[in-house]
Amino acid sequence: MAVALLVAAGRGERLGATGPKAFVVLAGRPLLEWSLDALRAVDAVRRIVVALPEGYYAPPGCVGVRGGVERSHSVRAALAASLEGDGDGEAGTGDPDEPVIVHDAARPLVTPAQIERALAALEESGADAVVAAAPVTDTIKRARPSGEVETTLDRRALWAIQTPQVFRRSALSAALAQPDELLARATDDAWLIEQAGGRVHVVESPRENLKVTTPVDLRLAALLLEDRC
Ligand code: CTP
Ligand code: MG
Repeated sequence: MAVALLVAAGRGERLGATGPKAFVVLAGRPLLEWSLDALRAVDAVRRIVVALPEGYYAPPGCVGVRGGVERSHSVRAALAASLEGDGDGEAGTGDPDEPVIVHDAARPLVTPAQIERALAALEESGADAVVAAAPVTDTIKRARPSGEVETTLDRRALWAIQTPQVFRRSALSAALAQPDELLARATDDAWLIEQAGGRVHVVESPRENLKVTTPVDLRLAALLLEDRC
């Protein structure tokens, strides 16, 4: 079995809506409901914890927890809440091998199959973490602050990292035990594992599993969801 942590506590400043991004209406429903559907449809998921902004309540059947200042702080709060009520005899640390799925509510197009593929890849690879990722399709160059191009990177080795990201509980919990300042610099949790010398693998995922960041992403997500119905 596995637990899922859905992080939904961000403010959504770049989207610029009147309320938090996870509760903005997308194709007729609050944005977070789309990825909740996908998580609920995965048989291996025994519990879903949602990190929420202040004043918002957990959706039915989920455990709710108040999010933190930065994304990784919200993941840490959700991981702690995932242990509550487990009746774990060993000081509430949980099964160290249990897979923990971390997903951004901001990625509403995730499918149950993508989550299942990440879980299977964790088993097969023996890695500490597996991250959904899309092959990069743009040419990527590194440039100096002046704008002068320094180099062109080899696209064949580049991946655009998404969620879901799946971790061994022990690896995620050790990564999140690092100082708050380091957590604040992490744009994903797998980076914290890499910093600590852990092994992270990518599992291919389509670009359609986009992150709603700006208003144009919200429009694209609405179109793609309409195509599914
Ligand atoms: N998130 C969170 N807690 C935070 C910050 C972010 O749970 N303190 C969540 C967001 O709700 C989102 C995911 O992390 O589902 C990815 O973050 P991002 O896309 O940056 O969302 P926001 O932080 O809400 O947006 P912005 O950075 O534009 O304010
Ligand atoms: Mg953010």
